[in-house]
Amino acid sequence: MMRSLFRPLFRPAAAALLALGLALAAGGPVLAQQAPAAGPPAGFVAPPPPKPEESNAERAKSQPGNNAPFWRAVRESGEQAGYTSLPGAEKGTLIQSFTQYPGSRVATAGEAWRQVRNQIIIPYGGALLIITLVAIAIFYWRVGMIGGHVPDTGRKIERFTPFERAAHAVNALAFVLLALSGVVMAFGKFFLLPVLGATLFGWLAYALKTLHNVVGPLFAVSLVIVIITFIKDNFPRAGDLRWLLRMGGMFGDHEIPSHRFNAGEKVVFWAGVFLLGLLAVGSGLLLDQLIPNIVYTRGVMQLTHMVHAAVACLMLVVFIGHIYLGVTTRGAIDGMRTGYCDEAWAQEHHELWYNDVKAGRIPAQRSGTPVPQGNKPAQA
Ligand code: HEM
Repeated sequence: MMRSLFRPLFRPAAAALLALGLALAAGGPVLAQQAPAAGPPAGFVAPPPPKPEESNAERAKSQPGNNAPFWRAVRESGEQAGYTSLPGAEKGTLIQSFTQYPGSRVATAGEAWRQVRNQIIIPYGGALLIITLVAIAIFYWRVGMIGGHVPDTGRKIERFTPFERAAHAVNALAFVLLALSGVVMAFGKFFLLPVLGATLFGWLAYALKTLHNVVGPLFAVSLVIVIITFIKDNFPRAGDLRWLLRMGGMFGDHEIPSHRFNAGEKVVFWAGVFLLGLLAVGSGLLLDQLIPNIVYTRGVMQLTHMVHAAVACLMLVVFIGHIYLGVTTRGAIDGMRTGYCDEAWAQEHHELWYNDVKAGRIPAQRSGTPVPQGNKPAQA
């Protein structure tokens, strides 16, 4: 049925195809003869092939639209600065040269710095802080409050003068503000960003960064005052090594005798306040670009930032420990709050200092502040 339907169409179509085939066979050589010859037309002068050392202007002629020399110069501007009319350090360097910072792969310096920050300082610093908090929580759970085994006598010794307490208070307040704002800047995106959302977190981080920059110089000044104020009683003395080797008697039934500050406090002073404190302050002032006569290149800022962030994490560990012991040693915070400690406290925690006070070698009262109400000054 179908065959009979199409039969009338089949014959003319076949004839047309045959005719087309014959025409192509006959005309093919003619078409081939008419195709243009290979190569440029007569009179065409080809531009010279591009050379790697060409300037961008030369390249625009040799290969219009190809900006490779320009981008090569951008990439190598860390080796040889490009031209710029902008004044200031390193303005002709768009991409720093290749380098390797401790812990990074070989990469352009900005990328190497980013690797150190994101793959070392942030994860290891954060882990260190969490380990410290967990460790002191376990310590508190197992040991609880420290000392206070001897009843108070009601006789007071001046532990800190008003000046010493004021220096300590300003320094401690500045440190806490720096610590909180620094922690939000470094780790906030992990624990605050998901809670607050990008807009609120952005504003908070910006506000805390500004606070950090303002409080930094206050911390710097108060740190120097604290160092000068407390240095003389933090020099090593006989008995400190014994205190350290026995860990202050932490696992015995009484504390190892110490002078006004025990060896643990001296370690906090020299390692935490003096070394880490001055490094944090020095690097912080550099980051704030407050130290004159320094060329603040990106390399300087990257190195400074890595030192500052690593030192800040270590300082946090030291001062979390310091604050913990200050708060959980019964009576210690009273010495800082009122300026006075009980004779019993002095004997329990700083026996050699207590003996010196009792022997009259150190005055029981150094400033004119009155002894807290209901108490008597200690007698030599
Ligand atoms: C909220 C934070 C802080 C608290 C609660 C705190 C608490 C205390 C307490 C209770 C004492 C007296 C210890 C004793 O009588 O032997 C003390 C001493 C001291 N604190 Fe703090 N402190 C804090 C932050 C800081 C900071 C940030 C620094 C320095 C960067 C610092 C440096 C010192 C120094 C130098 C001493 C004298 C002991 C020594 O020289 O080793 N404190 N602190």
